[in-house]
Amino acid sequence: MIFTLHIWRQKSPQVGGSFSTYIINNIDGDTSFLEMLDQLNEQLIHQNEDCIVFDYDCREGICGACSLVINGYPHGEKTATTTCQLYMREYKNETELWIEPWRANSFAVLKDLTVDRSAFDRIIQSGGYVSVHTGSAPEANNILVEKNTADEAFSAAECIGCGACVAVCPNASASLFVAAKISHLMLLPQGEIESNGRAHNMMMQMQDEGFGSCSNHRYCERVCPKGISLQNITRMNNILG
Ligand code: SF4
Ligand code: FES
Repeated sequence: MIFTLHIWRQKSPQVGGSFSTYIINNIDGDTSFLEMLDQLNEQLIHQNEDCIVFDYDCREGICGACSLVINGYPHGEKTATTTCQLYMREYKNETELWIEPWRANSFAVLKDLTVDRSAFDRIIQSGGYVSVHTGSAPEANNILVEKNTADEAFSAAECIGCGACVAVCPNASASLFVAAKISHLMLLPQGEIESNGRAHNMMMQMQDEGFGSCSNHRYCERVCPKGISLQNITRMNNILG
């Protein structure tokens, strides 16, 4: 397969960027999107050109680092899929692809396709830790958790902190991310005790970091690779009063 790639190139946060166009051929349908970029980088190395900088860590849909907007869609058009789990067979031969970094003021472009997502770390830190005494590891059945509640907590905990919800939101809101983090702790007995303060602190930090508010566009739920539900935002709004 052969693809025309329009890739955002930017040397640093201080300078503006622009698209550069590359042709890549001999791509097997079973090549992942990131492997295709690896092949392009090998090509650039042979031509003595600067490699394209892009983020990844696990390449297994776990770490949330592979933050690319592909043809206008964070993580590409395929639902419930991170960029690293996207394969080139999803595209027709000779497709043109426009590849950009996340676009949000709170995620500064560091270089090419990488952005600074440390704002998410600071939001998590602002939530603090569970400070109530929980004793030593309890016997699993001592504190009973209703099955549906445990499932909801587990679903919220699936958020990998990728930031696609921010990248797609017209307000660049981090509400889905924050709501997922608040939910997965507040639904369980030990985390529930301090959930009010935690939710307020995280919301304040989200605002301080420059993320916008939620105004129910709902794009975030559609692009989230882990299917985090908007119900988490409702739950968060209830606790924030
Ligand atoms: S809520 Fe979904 S899109 Fe947002 S950071 Fe978590 S996994 Fe990514
Ligand atoms: S590289 Fe870890 S989720 Fe994509």
